[in-house]
Amino acid sequence: MADSYQPSSQGSNLPKYFHHLSQTYTHQTGNSTRNLFAQIAHRVAPISSDSIIHDNASGPGTATGVILSNLPPDVHPQIVATDMVPAMIDAFKSTEFPGINPNHITGIVMKSETLAFPANHFTHSITNFSVFNFADPSICLREIHRTLKPSGQAVITTWKRFGIGEVVHETQRRVRPDLPLMKFSGPDMYSADAVVDVMLRSGFARDKIDFVSMETVATGEDLDGLRAFAEGQFTESARRGWTEEEKDRWGVVLGDVLEEERERFGGVRFEGWAVVATKGDEQ
Ligand SMILES: C[S@@+](CC[C@H](N)C(=O)[O-])C[C@H]1O[C@@H](n2cnc3c(N)ncnc32)[C@H](O)[C@@H]1O
Repeated sequence: MADSYQPSSQGSNLPKYFHHLSQTYTHQTGNSTRNLFAQIAHRVAPISSDSIIHDNASGPGTATGVILSNLPPDVHPQIVATDMVPAMIDAFKSTEFPGINPNHITGIVMKSETLAFPANHFTHSITNFSVFNFADPSICLREIHRTLKPSGQAVITTWKRFGIGEVVHETQRRVRPDLPLMKFSGPDMYSADAVVDVMLRSGFARDKIDFVSMETVATGEDLDGLRAFAEGQFTESARRGWTEEEKDRWGVVLGDVLEEERERFGGVRFEGWAVVATKGDEQ
């Protein structure tokens, strides 16, 4: 059974967590990572049939789906998706990406710390809502920089407000304010400044880095998916140390908090940062 995110600790349960989440990822994330990336897709540098795009720590191919849905039908870039969790790559391979020659799409199980690609290889390197999962982001960002072609573009997104995490924490506070809040991955990376800081240490130049914020509100089926996520096994550690009676109240109190979130924002509100950088020609 999956436990909460504990990515930076030794013996991380992150691969197990994402293995379990892989089959229901899109639903149980309320499409949040897709909808946020869709908002900054216009910041991705122009893509041609000569482009070689890396969807890094791809999950089921969230960024790939957005990129392909925006391409003219006669443009066929190469896309390589990598993720350390085999079930995520299986999900990527079983996803239909309409309009693209299947020979142009590859999914490979690979850790972002050790990218098995040559230097100066990709024209675009996208890391969508995964940087906070990396145990050592600077190792992974050095790999992103190394594998990008000169003038190639890196896009790295992170949370500004992880909406469902806020809901889970508020639910915990209402029942057992005395116990620790559930840990989510790498909150120290939930800011553009933190990502920029690591990029600067990974070879990118300050004058070639820009960032922008984005937001989305999950409603309807997306909200149902988030509720399923928050109610179930993925938030088990939020109820650690609770009595059975307290655990029985989780669904009701969660419903109250979700309703308040809906009254406040119209649904569960997620905010993100996108950091966009170009690799210098001289590097
Ligand atoms: C929050 S999900 C984001 C997935 C996808 N990029 C998206 O936009 O929805 C984080 C993903 O990063 C992957 N991941 C975490 N750490 C990784 C690492 N060190 N190397 C490769 N993949 C990693 C996980 O398996 C998971 O699929």
